[in-house]
Amino acid sequence: MKGSSPSLLLGVTGSIAAYKSLDLIRRFREEGMTVRVVATDNARQFLPFLSAEVFSDHKVETDLFSEGEGTGRIRHLALLDSADILLIAPASANFIARLSLGIADDLLSTMALSARIPILLAPAMEEAMYLHPATEEHRTRLAGRGVVEISPEEGALASGRTGQGRMASAERILAAVRQHLPSPAPSNIDSLKGRHVLVSSGPTYEPLDPVRFIGNRSSGLMGMALVRAALERGARVTLVTGPTALTAPREVEVLSVETAQAMKEALERLFPVCDVLVMAAAVSDYRPASALAKKRKKNGKGWSLDLQENPDILKGLAAMRRPGQCLVGFAAESSLDREKLLEKCRAKGVDLLVANDISNPLTGFGSSENEALLITPDGGCHPVSRRSKEALSRVIFERLPFPPFPAGSPSRLG
Ligand code: C5P
Repeated sequence: MKGSSPSLLLGVTGSIAAYKSLDLIRRFREEGMTVRVVATDNARQFLPFLSAEVFSDHKVETDLFSEGEGTGRIRHLALLDSADILLIAPASANFIARLSLGIADDLLSTMALSARIPILLAPAMEEAMYLHPATEEHRTRLAGRGVVEISPEEGALASGRTGQGRMASAERILAAVRQHLPSPAPSNIDSLKGRHVLVSSGPTYEPLDPVRFIGNRSSGLMGMALVRAALERGARVTLVTGPTALTAPREVEVLSVETAQAMKEALERLFPVCDVLVMAAAVSDYRPASALAKKRKKNGKGWSLDLQENPDILKGLAAMRRPGQCLVGFAAESSLDREKLLEKCRAKGVDLLVANDISNPLTGFGSSENEALLITPDGGCHPVSRRSKEALSRVIFERLPFPPFPAGSPSRLG
């Protein structure tokens, strides 16, 4: 926390739900937070500024070039400097698109682009806008960059229609903000300093011919959240990723692969020099026995595929581990049976198995949130309730059964 009490920047954009921002300000103040409101030009149509100023006890900020506290410094940076979290509620479809594209043409968007603090979005819009592929692409891209969405709810919308798009309730927004406020740093926050963490992520594509492939629904969001959590703890990070739309932070060494075989080769090369392997990739269990060199043409006869099982990369790597290395595996299951998961954890030879239930549409593939059971080979089972993939990644690294560096031992990293 930057001050004696948590400090929240509340971005308000041009959605009719902006009237609810007043209640949010009041609730945050009741929780002892300092609240500074930053409104877009369109928000003027919906947010009663005077009430927002009385509730927040601060002027509503709108102008990138205005004077005031922090004069002599760049305005958006002065506001960010004292903030712990940036919440945009309501977030309009237009603002989500601007944020995704990195447009910085007013105070709020410029702040969002410069922010190094958690950014949370509470979208509010008509269902058609929320479900529009453009909005969906922007939301996925933002989730990949670590922006947390507090998903909207079903209900009556401003148009009088019913659908998904109502801004999340104040309770859900408050809970999400509390969850992302900086907590006192855990004692092992530097636990990965000087360590090399290897993360695998995304799907694999197994070609049938030059055009078609067998793939899966993995978005790579979980892997990217793990990458960021490892960086946060001071690790050097290498990412081996199957095809995804996500971009890794600049300091990460990235190897892009397509097939399970290529992923296996990359990981086998990198594994001996890493300290921690987190195998979050959704590796295709099967590949076509042979791929055609030319596109197969329709011939009215159908197409039977002969599939071969891919090698289990994780199991193979576990068998070649050296002392001191730590392995984390993932298990995407249609239902979670603790006994079976424990068996899988031991069979794979991992130190931690992160099991998710893929039958829950709110979590897992493509979602920004996840819930999991963390299984250890000694029979330990730690449930982690639904939360952002970022927050789950932090718990995974906090609970990593990783042997500490012996005092004075040199890091393997140069
Ligand atoms: O056996 P299952 O597919 O449930 O195991 C999932 C775990 O094993 C994940 O960590 C995944 O990355 C890894 N895996 C692998 N090679 C495969 C299939 C899965 O390393 N062929």
